[in-house]
Amino acid sequence: MDKTILITGGAGFIGSHVVKLFVKKYSNYKIVNLDALTYAGNLENLTDIKDYKNYFFEKGDITDFNFLKNLFKKYNFDGIIHLAAESHVDRSILNPLEFINTNIIGTFNLLNIAKETWKNNFNGKRFYHISTDEVYGSLGESGFFTETTAYDPKSPYSASKASSDHLVRAYNNTYNLPVVISNCSNNYGSHQFPEKLIPLAINNIKNNKPIPIYGKGDNIRDWLFVEDHAVAIDTIFHNGKNGDTYNIGGNNEWTNIDLIRSLCKIMDKKLNRKKGESEKLITFVKDRAGHDKRYAIDSSKLQNELNWKPSLQFEEGLEKTVEWYLANQKWVDNVISGEYQKYYDKQYKNR
Ligand code: NAD
Ligand code: TYD
Repeated sequence: MDKTILITGGAGFIGSHVVKLFVKKYSNYKIVNLDALTYAGNLENLTDIKDYKNYFFEKGDITDFNFLKNLFKKYNFDGIIHLAAESHVDRSILNPLEFINTNIIGTFNLLNIAKETWKNNFNGKRFYHISTDEVYGSLGESGFFTETTAYDPKSPYSASKASSDHLVRAYNNTYNLPVVISNCSNNYGSHQFPEKLIPLAINNIKNNKPIPIYGKGDNIRDWLFVEDHAVAIDTIFHNGKNGDTYNIGGNNEWTNIDLIRSLCKIMDKKLNRKKGESEKLITFVKDRAGHDKRYAIDSSKLQNELNWKPSLQFEEGLEKTVEWYLANQKWVDNVISGEYQKYYDKQYKNR
């Protein structure tokens, strides 16, 4: 094997797409997926590669330093692609402590264990930290986040991610740990847990349940197809410059309400409903506390320096996403049994 790579959070939404891409593309790499299998982690996301010879799964928690110590003894990692995180803003409002533990302490543990294990012999090593555009805060009507935009996180989620980004840069600056960071906009696609806007709306429309839109629905997000993010991660892992940051985005801004209206049209078509039927489910509810108004990414550095660009138009990606959810009802049923209902009631009841 040419390289042994640790991917954390590989049973989650984006992580599972990254694991699948790496396992299939690099038969000469040993890919170790470390995941705690929280409510968001699901090994069913990985069924098509689970029997590959270059794939290994380890269940464990990045907040557990002793566990990490043993894992790093067991495998001789050359690279780390760190995606494990608590990732949902609404949950960070309900229960911020888990975000501090996993996103900050967990990242700190990984940085320390990498530094200790690699013992300053950093040749050929790389610590790649996956972050979010939310660390930059909220935009007004114009402008874009660039790699030099000052951090201004506004939710417990984004503050915990910002904190982890700072730690990663500090380890590069202080100990010369070879790192690279990317900050990506909102992802969508298959295997996303139905607490996030698009899969939640698909599931509710299918079941004729209200689609909850926070506030007036005029908040803007920049959406990127998850498989395009995975390709960007592959590109940056292999070709990104040591110590650098890359913004990743789809150049694809939508207000929530326009996005949901487009989604409703696709759902009407796919479910053979009358035109306008699904839109009737749109329900405006109490706004999210501290709701960021607008995110928009300038990804020209990544496009110009590393030659990456998004492959799909949004309407095409959205249609593919709907098709996947409708064809995989069993997956949906499994992830919304149990904990999900409790979360849903807490989040949306009396809103
Ligand atoms: P996700 O919530 O779907 O998956 C997170 C994964 O991490 C799960 O498999 C979970 O089991 C695992 N995990 C959580 N806590 C852990 C712990 N303590 N130890 C080990 N594993 C743990 O998240 P996602 O949407 O796939 O996001 C992945 C990464 O990408 C995160 O770092 C997130 O901040 C970042 N990101 C996400 C988006 C997005 O739109 N989803 C956009 C930009 C950046
Ligand atoms: P989300 O998918 O949670 O991603 P993020 O907050 O990280 O951008 O939300 C996307 C947008 O959709 C955001 O502006 C909040 C909004 N939203 C709703 O209006 N209703 C919902 O039920 C959810 C989950 C999100």
